[in-house]
Amino acid sequence: MNLYLKEIKKVFARQGKTGGTFCALDTTTLTLTGGKLIEITGRSGSGKSTLLQIAGGLLRPSEGRVILDDTELYTLEDGALSRLRNRHIGVIPQGHTALRSLTVLENVTLPARLYDPLTDATERAKELLAMVGIEELADEEPMQLSGGELRRMAIARALMQKPDVLLADEPTGDLDDENTAKILKLLRQFADAGTAVLLVTHEGAAAAYADAVYTMSAGVRAGIKDGGEGVRRYQKA
Ligand SMILES: Nc1ncnc2c1ncn2[C@@H]1O[C@H](COP(=O)(O)OP(=O)(O)OP(=O)(O)O)[C@@H](O)[C@H]1O
Ligand SMILES: [Mg+2]
Repeated sequence: MNLYLKEIKKVFARQGKTGGTFCALDTTTLTLTGGKLIEITGRSGSGKSTLLQIAGGLLRPSEGRVILDDTELYTLEDGALSRLRNRHIGVIPQGHTALRSLTVLENVTLPARLYDPLTDATERAKELLAMVGIEELADEEPMQLSGGELRRMAIARALMQKPDVLLADEPTGDLDDENTAKILKLLRQFADAGTAVLLVTHEGAAAAYADAVYTMSAGVRAGIKDGGEGVRRYQKA
């Protein structure tokens, strides 16, 4: 599947003394294609997470359209959008979103059980936990996990539904070099198997795994335009 972001703009209301509005993302167009891994890098505050959340159906843009194959995400009603996200889009968020009252294994199987309470997703969840190297933590509670272990749990959860589009926001942020390489390799494998992968990262080692790297235009917050001004594009060697 392909995900198209067409002329996306996001303006936030500022709550501070001065009030007013703030344009976090300005007229950004981006295509995520099945089988390709696109990396986005750029300064803190340049709008990377905003873009990723809009791509994932989690944040409505002020302007523009997000289209998965031929379905326009933000024209769907909430229930239909949630189901479409659950079936097709995996998100590894920048922050931690573990449900504390569930075990690690239950956190990972949750997306499978949301719309199909009868599903037995345990075996797949265990395989995914092994893939990210924390299978021995399956029965622990998230509170017992380190930052890097929680991150890897979130990666396993995002992969649970075999997403056609995988959106990863700093997935290696808390990880050592060895685990970073393991996760980057895993994301590449999913891309090679046909998933459209978006990787937001500051990790220098990531570019070697990407088909293309885009830099958010910091400062002017011009966002990304494919091949346009303020964008550097590197082709994989
Ligand atoms: N809900 C919000 N309300 C107001 N401003 C926001 C909101 N969310 C983000 N912003 C602003 O939009 C800008 C872009 O934020 P975003 O989180 O997309 O940056 P980022 O590139 O992901 O940064 P980082 O590398 O630090 O994660 C920031 O200046 C931020 O303060
Ligand atoms: Mg961010």
